[in-house]
Amino acid sequence: MRCRVLLVCGSLQKVSANRAALDIARIHLSGLGLATVEDADELGTIPAFNSDHLTDPPQAVVSFRQRISRCDVAMMSCPEYAGAMSGVLKNALDWIVGSGELYTKPVAVLSAGTTGGVHALRNLIQTLTWQGAHVVGQLGIAGPRTKSDPSGRLTDPATITAIERLVQQLIDVRVLPVDERLALVQHVTSSVGIEAGHIASMS
Ligand SMILES: Cc1cc2nc3c(=O)[nH]c(=O)nc-3n(C[C@H](O)[C@H](O)[C@H](O)COP(=O)(O)O)c2cc1C
Repeated sequence: MRCRVLLVCGSLQKVSANRAALDIARIHLSGLGLATVEDADELGTIPAFNSDHLTDPPQAVVSFRQRISRCDVAMMSCPEYAGAMSGVLKNALDWIVGSGELYTKPVAVLSAGTTGGVHALRNLIQTLTWQGAHVVGQLGIAGPRTKSDPSGRLTDPATITAIERLVQQLIDVRVLPVDERLALVQHVTSSVGIEAGHIASMS
């Protein structure tokens, strides 16, 4: 069965290291021929979160929620800004607190940026876990400019291999027995100090 993969980029700038990382994932998925890939390209048009509009959300939020609902797995890549995930991604995620689309959804997270995004990753893993997502893998890419060609395309073989491994781990999770999936999630969450009690159960 084809895997529906949603790519979510938390950077809006045209030449983006995080989009470049997702582009590697897209190329790999296309080579495998096993997946349908979608981009959440509405993030830049999602208005600032406002609880008053939760039941009558803006069209961009409706679209983002639908994309998350229909994907089997998601890969999210975002820059670290001042020690946290980008506001663009946090804002989009705030709109789906409580609406449930992320509940037990397998997600792999990346952060490409100067230091490798250790704080952004911790922050993103915590937010996603609080929202019920199953974060099954993570990857930080430090100094992406040194790993890219002048157009911003990632060319470093080790980085490309690491992204491809993360993609494989993400799509393989669909066929893992529940206990193995939860062990994987616990491995990721415990690495950033999140207690197992916060992980959404499969029952
Ligand atoms: C406002 C701002 C804050 C930043 N803060 C951090 C930071 O806290 N840690 C870090 O490693 N890089 C930081 N950076 C550098 C980004 O990681 C780097 O620009 C990255 O390539 C941005 O991702 P993008 O290329 O996908 O847009 C910051 C950049 C900007 C513009």
